[in-house]
Amino acid sequence: MNSLISKDSKWVLTEKGTDPETIRQNETLFALSNGHFGTRGSLEEAERTREYSHSEATLVNAYYDSELIEYGEWAYGYAEKHQTVIPVPNGKKLAIKLDNDLFDLETGKTTVHKRQLDLKKGLLTRSFTWENSQGHKLDISIERFVSYDYPELLAQKVWITPHDDGCDLRIVATLDDLKEMGSISEEESNDPRIKAQKERRFKSERLEDFENQLLHIETNSTGLHMIVGEKNELSDSSVQSCFENGSESWEIDTVKGETITLERTVGYSNIFKGASMKEEKAQKLSTVMNEASAIGFEGLKEKHVDHMEEFWESSDIEIEGDDELQVGLRFNLFHLYQAAGRDGKRNMSAKGLTGEGYEGHYFWDTEMYMLPFFLYTQPKIAKHLLNYRYTILHEARNRAREMAVDKGALFAWRTINGKEASPYYPAGTAQIHINGDIAHAVHSYVKVTGDRRFGMHEGLEILVETARFYAGWGHFDEKRNGAFVLNDVTGPDEYTAIVNNNYYTNLMAKHNFKYAAEMVEAVLEAGDEDGLGVLERIGFDKTELENWKRAADRMFLPYDEEQELTMQDDSFFHKEVWDIENTPKDKFPLLLNYHPLTIYRYQVNKQADTVLAQFLFSDEFSQEQKARDYEYYESVTTHDSSLSRSVFGMMASDLGEMDKAYSYFMDTALMDITDMQSNTKDGVHAANMGGTWMSMVYGFGGMRLLNDTLQFRPRLPKDWTRVTFKVQFRHRLIKVAIGKEDTEYTLLKGEPLVIRHFDEEKHLD
Ligand code: BGC
Repeated sequence: MNSLISKDSKWVLTEKGTDPETIRQNETLFALSNGHFGTRGSLEEAERTREYSHSEATLVNAYYDSELIEYGEWAYGYAEKHQTVIPVPNGKKLAIKLDNDLFDLETGKTTVHKRQLDLKKGLLTRSFTWENSQGHKLDISIERFVSYDYPELLAQKVWITPHDDGCDLRIVATLDDLKEMGSISEEESNDPRIKAQKERRFKSERLEDFENQLLHIETNSTGLHMIVGEKNELSDSSVQSCFENGSESWEIDTVKGETITLERTVGYSNIFKGASMKEEKAQKLSTVMNEASAIGFEGLKEKHVDHMEEFWESSDIEIEGDDELQVGLRFNLFHLYQAAGRDGKRNMSAKGLTGEGYEGHYFWDTEMYMLPFFLYTQPKIAKHLLNYRYTILHEARNRAREMAVDKGALFAWRTINGKEASPYYPAGTAQIHINGDIAHAVHSYVKVTGDRRFGMHEGLEILVETARFYAGWGHFDEKRNGAFVLNDVTGPDEYTAIVNNNYYTNLMAKHNFKYAAEMVEAVLEAGDEDGLGVLERIGFDKTELENWKRAADRMFLPYDEEQELTMQDDSFFHKEVWDIENTPKDKFPLLLNYHPLTIYRYQVNKQADTVLAQFLFSDEFSQEQKARDYEYYESVTTHDSSLSRSVFGMMASDLGEMDKAYSYFMDTALMDITDMQSNTKDGVHAANMGGTWMSMVYGFGGMRLLNDTLQFRPRLPKDWTRVTFKVQFRHRLIKVAIGKEDTEYTLLKGEPLVIRHFDEEKHLD
């Protein structure tokens, strides 16, 4: 087990000592965020000792810059511009000088160095004793959190206790506007999963006429503005501070045993367009910061801890029988909660706000991996995430036209602003399953929350436009007895590209047609005015309905009768099988070591594809079929993508293979803590974190929504004695406690409800 996890606490990750590699690695794990912005868990003095830091970045959700994508050879419809989330001014920076020595882990001597991430409270703490070269000592503690109550704010407090009288202590707090960026290595700039920042991507100006220190920043090319501000309060108000070049400093004559504290509030305003708003926005941020400073660090912290308590109250999962795994599991839930945009305009990137990997882009990861957690524990956030898709629907429509489909919408494979940002279309735009993924999420949201208003308005529009795109992309193939086919697509497995009839895509499209038809019919039947208004506005015509139904009925789903196996696509079984076992370990992930065409020519999977389709619609397949397909596809899967293992784990639970389910689950739950994919430095794997929640609830809890009824088929791994979680379902809150022998379902809130436990109906009152 990773050394961050100890037997003593089910809530706290602890790092001890000053090993540079460990501290660097934990920068990602100790990142704090709130959906609006996030800041990596870097040391306050990281800039002075680079080997302790990979990136100190503070990232604001959807604060991105853009530049043209340079293609060696361009073709029509290629994505035009990069969208890259960029580090904004760093407000964590602090310098402490005692006599002539500036503190860092390489100067003088640091002892009892400890950092802890308290998941329960959402707090990062650091403490140590530092002895300078003259033998004078300071005890230092630092606390930091990113507020949910004031989403603009990062709050920090520093306690410094001198061991000696009469030393010169200087404290410098800096709001670093990144004039000098760290350098990046060759290796980093080649990894397609990273887009390392070579230079600062915004202009900054200091605003003078405000009582707080404020910076106005504007991206180089996207015209996105923000105000960043800082306010400091030293416990000893008799000490005057001095302002210089964006830093505030204090000179103190030390008194032995007398603790000095510094409270820092750093604010990141919302993003705005147009410099003319800067005064107003600056005033607004200043007001929030003044309010926060009037409450004080301890007061803010109290509110924050209360907020976290509420979060855990509804979203925690308890495991009895494995304390260490318990912390690991909570770590995933903590990061999931931190990452989600909460304003309906921004989403949740593949790395959350913990690192610059994947440029801060939103993928299908949100709908298929992260959303279920929110859907069943924080439905309001789930709605915000779906609303974001609604806000970019017009871009998706434009994209469909670019792809020469004259009706409907195609969502971008990876994006921030709604436009396609994937420069590599075979593993980008070709993944048109994203439409079906979003439609599936909309459908699930409406089923689980009962929010018909959303379903018949925003939901309806998304369902119709995504279905229309499939209708236009595919056709009824006379050579296949008139079956509906979707050619030249890429499924979830990115090691197989541009194929005909990817099983997963076709199955998602089939359901997309059904969801759209169902919702349109519901609107027509109810005569719902909003819904009818939407249908009129988007020029819906009844013949479309018939066409979708026909396409759904006749959807081509490739199957090999001889082997009795589901086919990943038309050509998959015609390829040679890649010899995974005899591929040297250092050649994984394959994507960094083989040309894409080499990989595409083989039967080899980066991640779950057909197995994911069968997991999502598990009641549509027999257990025997699922078991056969599982065995086959597992043998050709490398799990080079972090989105893979959780799906194989859940399917193992479905098939009753509990040892296997447990083993996949361990890898899933501890993926970032153990740096299993060797790239946690670039940010956490948020989809896998969603996969962790799903593994518990869908996997071990066996929860499915079937014909509007929640069904559970619980099964625990052998060493666990009890698992408890809560789910929200149509204004009810249900607690599920799974024991070795029995399962207890308690209705904590809401009207009576019928659920199914295996095949038995149970009435919850
Ligand atoms: C996976 C995709 C995923 C992306 C972002 C890739 O490695 O293959 O399925 O959407 O990472 O997490």
